[in-house]
Amino acid sequence: MNKLAFKNCLLIVTGSIAAYKTPDIVRRMRDEGAEVRVVLTSAASEFVTPLVLQAVSGNEVRQDLFDQKAEAGMGHIELARWADAIVIAPASADYIAKLSKGAADDLSTAICRASEAPILIAPAMNLQMWENSFTKEALDSLMKKGVCVCGPDSGSQACGEVGLGRLVEAEVLLESIANLFNAGSMAQIRVMVTAGPTREYIDPVRYLTNQSSGKMGYALARAACEAGANVILISGPTNLEPPKGVGVEYISSASEMESSVVNNIRDIDIFIACAAVSDYRPEIESSQKIKKSASTFSLKLIPNKDILSGVAGLTNAPFTVGFAAETEKLERYAKDKMTKKGIDMIAANLVDNDGTGFNSDDNELTVFWRDKSRILEKQSKEKLARKLVTLISKVYRESL
Ligand code: CTP
Repeated sequence: MNKLAFKNCLLIVTGSIAAYKTPDIVRRMRDEGAEVRVVLTSAASEFVTPLVLQAVSGNEVRQDLFDQKAEAGMGHIELARWADAIVIAPASADYIAKLSKGAADDLSTAICRASEAPILIAPAMNLQMWENSFTKEALDSLMKKGVCVCGPDSGSQACGEVGLGRLVEAEVLLESIANLFNAGSMAQIRVMVTAGPTREYIDPVRYLTNQSSGKMGYALARAACEAGANVILISGPTNLEPPKGVGVEYISSASEMESSVVNNIRDIDIFIACAAVSDYRPEIESSQKIKKSASTFSLKLIPNKDILSGVAGLTNAPFTVGFAAETEKLERYAKDKMTKKGIDMIAANLVDNDGTGFNSDDNELTVFWRDKSRILEKQSKEKLARKLVTLISKVYRESL
């Protein structure tokens, strides 16, 4: 798989002569599968034009915090939420100093302030500026805040000096961007995900099921794995390819899903119940095909065990995340469900006809935990899953 597949990368270009190299960097990021959006500082636009970066990124380049038209499209807060990673390359001495002081007075610094995405800085400046104690102190303080730094390289510089201060080569920068994800918010964490529908057999050829495609659960398993987790996926019947690097157990009925969860739950840190588990099953499963006889036919159903509640009730229960699909009163019903099941977090969506939810490629979620909530806007289930995984790992770590 490409190193940056499905990743949303925001590239901030600042005022350094090395800005002329950024069209090539954008092209390579896209070759690695990233969706790239570019923000130019006003100093950067002296070295590279927005038109070139728009052409290579395939997206409008943003420059101004107070651009009404652009803010009406993807505004700075949306950009901050959209980004899976923020790459500042080249990062000038002035920009590094500004960022370390917590400035938020232009578009790019406001985005950095508003985003929870990891930030990677690739400094590029004259040797003396690089060696100046202001630069070192600024970088130290940024690194203490979790900002990653790549480079600079050594070599001949545009100003005629030779030494440290050159922007790193594109391959090195790409490797460092990929490492932002490998370091992973879920490194060392063991995750179990349930996904897909269940089948409750009436006889050997008939069953009760639902519309779940399993896409969201599979996307979550993949996203957790990419974030460094050790993942087991308990899956009902789907047409999906198992995600690479994830252990999968296939089951059919709710009872089988329950047994599989119970057998594998030991040592799990986070349990994500994404499956659409049938609440009921036929009291009797006929061993032979049921023949037509009377003009009406009744089926007596009995309840299945609630798998999620069962896990939440275990002594030393893992951190538990449930899903709720509602047609109305989303917040109330979702929060009631969280309390009733005794779980830590719930991701809720409204089931309607706009192409979100069951069986579709996109979804939109409102996530509730403790007295907090967060809206994860409509986007592909792959992207949504990565955002949800980041949020789950953050709340999970806070709970420890
Ligand atoms: N769940 C489960 N085991 C069940 C039923 C549901 O683990 N037997 C989990 C689902 O995976 C999901 C959450 O519980 O995380 C959904 O709760 P549920 O009570 O099933 O929601 P609904 O079926 O939508 O409930 P209701 O019909 O009452 O709205």
